[in-house]
Amino acid sequence: MTETAKRAARRRQGKLPGRQDWSTWPHYQAAAAGFRGYWYPVCFSDQVGEKPRKVRLLGEDLFVIRDDDGIFGMKDRCPHRGVPLSYGSKQFPGTVSCVYHGWTFQLQSGDLVAAITDGPQSPICRKVTQPTYDVEERLGMVWVYVGDGERPHPIDEQLPEELVGNSAVLGQRIQQRKGNWRFACENGYDEGHAKYLHRAALWRLFKPMPVWNTTKIVERGRWIYRVQEKQYWAAEFPGLGRWTGLAWYKAKPPKETGNIGNTSSHREVNPVIAAQEFPGFASVSMPGVLRIAYPTFIHYEFYVPVDADDHLYVGVMADFQKGLRTLPFYAKYLGAVRWLFHGQFSGQDKWMVEVTDAPPERLYRPDESLLRWRKLAEDTTEDRLDRLRTQGIAPAAPADPTA
Ligand code: FES
Ligand SMILES: [Fe+2]
Repeated sequence: MTETAKRAARRRQGKLPGRQDWSTWPHYQAAAAGFRGYWYPVCFSDQVGEKPRKVRLLGEDLFVIRDDDGIFGMKDRCPHRGVPLSYGSKQFPGTVSCVYHGWTFQLQSGDLVAAITDGPQSPICRKVTQPTYDVEERLGMVWVYVGDGERPHPIDEQLPEELVGNSAVLGQRIQQRKGNWRFACENGYDEGHAKYLHRAALWRLFKPMPVWNTTKIVERGRWIYRVQEKQYWAAEFPGLGRWTGLAWYKAKPPKETGNIGNTSSHREVNPVIAAQEFPGFASVSMPGVLRIAYPTFIHYEFYVPVDADDHLYVGVMADFQKGLRTLPFYAKYLGAVRWLFHGQFSGQDKWMVEVTDAPPERLYRPDESLLRWRKLAEDTTEDRLDRLRTQGIAPAAPADPTA
């Protein structure tokens, strides 16, 4: 049978080409509302004060609040009658009181320490404990751990290594966006789209983009890297003609394929970035952290699941400089990067993530990047579940995205 006849036969049998679901990656498929067992950035540090601030994370409603000893997190549902505890306020140091009947919980432990409207001897005191969340502050942001009752790993083990122990100036943006967090992450790491979708973005206006690349994926530590082997700046499509992203107003493409910056560069590489010896310019790690290494700065994206339908886009640009040498970064970030990169360029990604509708899907050669990311998610989750089982902890069932 010819290929065409085979395809027609499959169609007659109701067998559709491509993947109809993601059952090849059961943990990934089940993680519509996110992977448990990680720290997630939820807002900027200066957005949290003495009033509770609502947060929705992995489909769970919680709030964060600042006290003398730092920031605390607690489930946002008063166990008395179920009103949001985040409508409450602080009446005593180290506690929060529900707006309705004044049940008062200790921030540190979640213990009910007073029920104001039942007097100081209220027998319900100490009999109720409100679930709490571990919270940390890093990179000027508030991070919340969502797990299954296990002790969280230190947050520094999960941050990009070069951000721990090197000083850097940061330009950041946190935006709630429509669409599943996995589409956002896959968009970030996808090999194919940047060259085409972003070819006319202002950020790329004077920079050439290759038509296509040959790429391999290299695993190192907890990251997988896209390594560009060869870039093709123009191509002849049989029967169609020539297609190129080159133009007279764009810079000339580099002679050699590099792996710092997506079109490589002749610029001197910042010593902190050079010291990382990244095998490839784009890398991704769990639970959805993208790192794009440019010669003079690194751009990160953290895809934070709000629930199955929405995510937080957290964009961080880091320039590894100190003191006066940080000034050009601020000028560049505020003058251009913030609008062109975190703005319009990333707005094209936002649009695609909103309109992506998969599965079903029919993947192509560059999607090796997606396959490897899903495999990484799968393997890492297996390892975590093994660890939990040996600790006698049964992980929570994934949130049902249709519920
Ligand atoms: S509902 Fe919270 S105290 Fe009554
Ligand atoms: Fe993009």
